[in-house]
Amino acid sequence: MSWEPDSSAWREPVAADRERHEPREVFAAGLRNHHIANTAYPIAHKQTFYPYKVKRARAHEVATRGLSGFRDMCLYLHVPFCETRCSFCEYTVVGKSELPLTTRYVDALLAELALYDDAIDLGARLFHGLDIGGGTPSFLPSRDIARILESVHARCTFSENADISIETTPKIASAEPEKIASYKALGIDRISMGIQVIQPDLLKVLGRSENGVEHHFRAVDAIRNAGFDRMNLDLMYGFADQSLASWRATLSHAIALGPEYITLYRMRYKLTRISHQSHRVDLEKVRPMIELSKALLSEAGYYAPPGKTTYSKIAGDVGTSSYLAKRVQTGIPYLGLGLGAQTFTHTTISYNDGAAGKNLAPYLKSVDAGRLPLQDLYDLPRAQMMGKMCAVSFYFGAIERAPFRAKFGVDLTDAFPNEVRFVVDEGLMELRADALAMTKHGTLYKNGIIPLFAGPSIQRYLIERDPSRSDDLEKNRKLALRVAG
Ligand SMILES: C[S@@+](CC[C@H](N)C(=O)[O-])C[C@H]1O[C@@H](n2cnc3c(N)ncnc32)[C@H](O)[C@@H]1O
Ligand code: SF4
Repeated sequence: MSWEPDSSAWREPVAADRERHEPREVFAAGLRNHHIANTAYPIAHKQTFYPYKVKRARAHEVATRGLSGFRDMCLYLHVPFCETRCSFCEYTVVGKSELPLTTRYVDALLAELALYDDAIDLGARLFHGLDIGGGTPSFLPSRDIARILESVHARCTFSENADISIETTPKIASAEPEKIASYKALGIDRISMGIQVIQPDLLKVLGRSENGVEHHFRAVDAIRNAGFDRMNLDLMYGFADQSLASWRATLSHAIALGPEYITLYRMRYKLTRISHQSHRVDLEKVRPMIELSKALLSEAGYYAPPGKTTYSKIAGDVGTSSYLAKRVQTGIPYLGLGLGAQTFTHTTISYNDGAAGKNLAPYLKSVDAGRLPLQDLYDLPRAQMMGKMCAVSFYFGAIERAPFRAKFGVDLTDAFPNEVRFVVDEGLMELRADALAMTKHGTLYKNGIIPLFAGPSIQRYLIERDPSRSDDLEKNRKLALRVAG
C-alpha cells in the first residue's frame, strides 16, 4: 500500500492558486514580512486556505480518504498542560482551570486513537516515529504516559528505526527525577527540554522565571541518571529584550550542559501574547544571532548543515526525533492526536478541536460523541501541499528531491523552474542530485526563500501585506490574551 501520485487526488486550485509570481518579488515580500514568512504553514489561512475548507458534514469522509492509500506514517500526541504559561508560547496549552483534567484528557486521547483505528485501521500501518509533545507531557503523572504508550503499542506497529521522544521542562525534570526515570523504563528513547534563555530579567518578561538556571544542572542529572543518551535542549532567539551578549551566554550555558543536540528556535510572534514586541526585532538584529550560533556550536563540536535548526554532536545522527526527521525529510503523512493537533496527509491538512479556543470542551465533546475531533479540515490542491512540504523542509535547510517526486509525481526543478534558478543564481541554495539545499549565505535570507515554494495565494498575500501595519499580529495578540484569560 504505497502512495502513487495521481493528479485527480488533489482538489482543483482556485484562481488565486493558479497564478505565478515573480521569484524576486516573492523573495522581497518574504523578507519584508520576515516575522510570518517562516516554516509555519499556511500563512493567513482565513484568506488562503478558506476556499478548501471542508464542511463538518463531510469531514469524516474526507479525513479518512486523506488518510487512505498509504502505509507509512508518523504519530504525534499532544499534551496541552503546563504548570505556567510562557508569554512567548505559540502552542496549544489550556488555562489553569483545566489543569485538573489530566485523566479525563488522557481518556479522550485514547478514545480518539480508537476512533482512528476504527476509521483507518492503524494496525495495517507502519509508524516511523512517535513524538509526545505539548505543552508539557511530563506534567502528566507517569501512569498516564504508561497508559498512553500501552494503548499505542497495542494498536500501532513501529518500524525498526522508529524512536519515541518526549518533552519536559527544567523545573519538572529537576523536581521529579523518578518521573524521568520511568520514561526510560517505558521505552522512550529521546528527551527534549526547553532552556530557551537564561537571563533572569528576560525569563521574567517571558513568564518563565520558574524554569531558570538553578534547575538546569539538576534536570540534566535526572535525565542522565535515568539513562538517556539522547538529550536535546531548546534555545530561543529573536526576543526584543535579548542582546547578542545575552544570546552568547545562553549558547555557552547550553553547551556546558553537554546535550547531544541543541535546537534553535527563532521567536515566532504570531498567536502569542508578546506579538506587539515584534516590531522591535528586525533582520539586522537576528542575523548576527544566527551567525554567532553557528560559530559557537561548531567550535563546541556540534554540526548542522546550513539552515538546519537542530545541531547534533553525534556523527550520523540528525539529532531530531525520527518522527520529525521522517516527516520533514520525506514528507510522509502524520496523524496528530489531542487538543489542537495537526494532521498532514498527501492531500489534506487538518487541525483538531481546540486549535483556536485552546480549551478542552469542544475536543472532549467530539470524542465523547464518537466523532473525529476535527475543527478545521482542508482538502487542498497540489500547489498548497507542495508549499507545506517545502516550508517544513526548511527545518532541515533542504528540500529532498526524491521524496518530493514520489509525493507529487514531478521533479522539484519542473514544479519550480524559475524559483530554483533564482535561488541558485543568487547563491542562496545549491542544486544537488539529492536535494535543493541552503548555502551559508542563504541562511541569512531564509524568510525570503521559504515563500518561493508556497502556494500562489500565500505569495500574493505576502506581496500585498504592509508589514508596518501588523494588524494581524495585533489581532492575534488580543486573541492570545483572551484565550490566556
Ligand atoms: C512544545 S514547546 C516546549 C516544551 C516544554 N514545555 C518547555 O517549555 O520546555 C517546544 C519548543 O518550542 C519553542 N517555542 C515555543 N513557542 C515558540 C514561539 N512562539 N516561537 C518559536 N519557538 C517557540 C520553545 O523552544 C519550546 O521549547
Ligand atoms: S514553552 Fe513549554 S512550558 Fe511554556 S507554555 Fe509553551 S509548552 Fe508550556
